[in-house]
Amino acid sequence: MTDCTRHKAWGALQAHSRQMRDVQMRDLFAQDEQRFEQFSLRAAGILLDYSKNRITAETLSLLTGLAREAGLGEAMQAMFGGDRINVTEGRAVLHTALRNRGDWAVQADGKPVMPDVLLVLERMRTFTEAVRDGVWRGFTGQRITDVVNIGIGGSDLGPAMVTQALQPYWQPGLRAHFVSNVDPSQMVETLMSVPAESTLFIVASKTFTTAETLLNAHVARRWLVEQAGDEAAVAKHFVAVSTNADKVRAFGIDTANMFGFWDWVGGRYSVWSAVGLPVALLVGMNAFEQFLAGAHAMDEHFRTAPFERNMPVILALLGIWYIDFFGAQSHAVFPYDQYLARLPAYLQQLDMESNGKSVTRDGERVACDTGPVLWGEPGTNGQHAFYQLLHQGTRLVPADFLAAAHSQRPLDQQHEVLLANCFAQTRALMLGKRPDEAEAELRAAGMSEDALRALLPHKVFPGNRPSNTLLYDRLDPRTLGALIALYEHKIFVQGTVWDINSFDQWGVELGKQLALGIAPDLTGERRGAHHDASTNGLIDAVHAFREHGSDEADA
Ligand code: F6P
Repeated sequence: MTDCTRHKAWGALQAHSRQMRDVQMRDLFAQDEQRFEQFSLRAAGILLDYSKNRITAETLSLLTGLAREAGLGEAMQAMFGGDRINVTEGRAVLHTALRNRGDWAVQADGKPVMPDVLLVLERMRTFTEAVRDGVWRGFTGQRITDVVNIGIGGSDLGPAMVTQALQPYWQPGLRAHFVSNVDPSQMVETLMSVPAESTLFIVASKTFTTAETLLNAHVARRWLVEQAGDEAAVAKHFVAVSTNADKVRAFGIDTANMFGFWDWVGGRYSVWSAVGLPVALLVGMNAFEQFLAGAHAMDEHFRTAPFERNMPVILALLGIWYIDFFGAQSHAVFPYDQYLARLPAYLQQLDMESNGKSVTRDGERVACDTGPVLWGEPGTNGQHAFYQLLHQGTRLVPADFLAAAHSQRPLDQQHEVLLANCFAQTRALMLGKRPDEAEAELRAAGMSEDALRALLPHKVFPGNRPSNTLLYDRLDPRTLGALIALYEHKIFVQGTVWDINSFDQWGVELGKQLALGIAPDLTGERRGAHHDASTNGLIDAVHAFREHGSDEADA
């Protein structure tokens, strides 16, 4: 493995970035009317316009050269071929097999995986049709009206985001709820809002050992048994999604009601597996298979397109360009699509749990910056909140803007207004407003000389701020599948160039471990904590609040 900064292309990119520092995108657009044609491409129903970036043909050629030097082609073959590329966990990475609609003969550890994948999909079809058709009924004989998914991280964010995104496809009379937090408020509020006799609980956990999920699942199980007055009701109201049949059985769910997946599916890459069960229940198995087909179309594009015309590769390399050569610390995602409101939260786990690493696959300290802080909100809401910083702040925040040509819920001209705002924002970020332009505007408004001089610096927009626009016809299951697969592969490409393992997540363990040591000090099992002074002080303060309320605790 190689320190990525030692690649020849890295040095060339450093020199090139110095030349590009003062190049203005508005000049690049003025010089070349074909810039959109040159720097846009289509794949799997998605148009990517990446012309509003600080790049030239030379930039792209150097960046794709870097990908080649970093061994991207070989890394792709290793991933799709089922090699154990997740080296620290000794696992293959084959979420692409879950949506394999073609005839790839995928193997993990020398064993074909497709027969098992297809079997689980078939079981999901039988089960979801039984629920949707009212054949599967609750303990009083009522059909299912509410589905509550209990899971966290990849066992929550994927299904929650996709279910919400596909709301126009929901079966009337079925509702979905997601409980992830160990904060009891979420479970209590959910249980107050659903009828026990017609609620189906899905306990989703790859490991079936995650503390939050098990605590919540026990609460839901106890509530259901109390409501039904009969332990036997559990069989009609609880199903599990997991790789761990023993733990599912030990929890008290019959494994006949369990949908399995495999250790070669990472939690944050699992929405394509039975973890997508809430999606399949709400939108039906045919739509769920369309969702898989969209992702497969993006997989095919990623596997076969030359790097120069490869959408995940281009998005990944543009990210690296700003992170490693312009010092960008964050990356924003702005869906101008309310149905994608949870996309930024979903991508936070996908990107930051995958590429928030500081050692290489060999355990050496990385020599460059890796994954960015990912954040975002739906447009146009963000425009009235934090866009000020994007336009006039001191930080460079590369951003993706996502929008559909067709609204799923057209109303008057509102969708056109939404699109106009989306395009206006990327144009404003790119163009900015020069001092002479701002001055001319103020003069035209008839402002006095003194007032003009005082106000002018505040009216200037530096511009030259990069963005990508991802445009699609409408947010149907197929397009959504392609969109998510696009981001998955983008993250994989970046991890490959940085030579980090994008598929483990050791960084989440320390906090879990320490929480186990602190909980007894709060539950009252132990008093007189021996942690650091801050933690001890906070524990004592909780007890003081609980014993004396806030006034006396203040004193
Ligand atoms: O703690 C992080 C994590 O392991 C994620 O990677 C995972 O998606 C989540 O917890 C939930 O894990 P599980 O599906 O095993 O309950």
